Amino acid sequence: MTLRHVWLSAQRQLSDQGICDAWLEAEVLLRHTLSLDRAGFFASLSQKVEGKTRESFEKLMSRRLTREPLAYITGHREFFSLDLKITPDVLIPRQETELLVEAVIEYAKTHTRPITIADVGTGSGCIAIAIAVALPSATVLATDLSPRALNIAQGNCLKHHVEDRVHLLEGDLLNVLDRPVDVVVSNPPYLTPAEIQTSKEEVKHEPQIALLGGQEGIDILAKLFNDAPRYLKPGGLLCVEIDPRRVDATRSLVQEGFAGCRYEINQDLVGVERILKVWTTERPTQAPF
Ligand SMILES: C[S@@+](CC[C@H](N)C(=O)[O-])C[C@H]1O[C@@H](n2cnc3c(N)ncnc32)[C@H](O)[C@@H]1O
Repeated sequence: MTLRHVWLSAQRQLSDQGICDAWLEAEVLLRHTLSLDRAGFFASLSQKVEGKTRESFEKLMSRRLTREPLAYITGHREFFSLDLKITPDVLIPRQETELLVEAVIEYAKTHTRPITIADVGTGSGCIAIAIAVALPSATVLATDLSPRALNIAQGNCLKHHVEDRVHLLEGDLLNVLDRPVDVVVSNPPYLTPAEIQTSKEEVKHEPQIALLGGQEGIDILAKLFNDAPRYLKPGGLLCVEIDPRRVDATRSLVQEGFAGCRYEINQDLVGVERILKVWTTERPTQAPF
């Protein structure tokens, strides 16, 4: 069978299982098996794919057909144009999360001095690393409760040469910080148990600790909003990815934790409210340091 035939047959199988973008997923799995870049893939469509190569590809296909996420099979995901190592120990970075990185870069432009950023629940390190690469004078304190996630983040920091400026800290939310910060950025777990149950099969492969935000989906958000004012410098920014289904609950939590502060909730690329930004007031907060 030629590569073209294998590709077409894989597309059919994936699409019969209801997998979107079957042509792209089949291409990515084939390129991963054959270690080919895109140009090499299209230049090899008339080559034969047989023997061990074919067997290896079929194994990957059967994993994908049981709805294991593509990124866990290939071990990679691109985020903010950076290639990251991804394993089932970490959430697979989502495209909408890139908006958090853009918001922090935007904030940094308004400062001439180097800024310090806390990335709460860093997972693969995607947000922390993208910020550190984009802002060469910034320091990032990246926290996570999961030592396994921090291990993956560590590898990604080394890969992108930001290990000197991204400090990985194991602990609960902001409690492990040793200094006040200019920005708190976070994509916290925000699903309820019922929402996880009714999510796509792929989501159920992701770590519970990265998904579950308590019975109402807002436990971690509530704690973060309660703690953040004490860790943020005056004139700082809190920037959080939220569940669009909980915009009202989010607004109430902001009004409690950040009374009098300006905030806005921005839409993501598909037009749903996703990114919360809160600017702290100039008056000094009571820091726990
Ligand atoms: C939704 S994932 C986000 C991962 C990554 N920042 C991203 O955007 O892809 C949430 C992360 O928060 C971590 N986490 C959950 N509870 C936490 C807590 N109380 N303190 C710190 N990290 C926590 C999880 O281990 C997981 O890595």
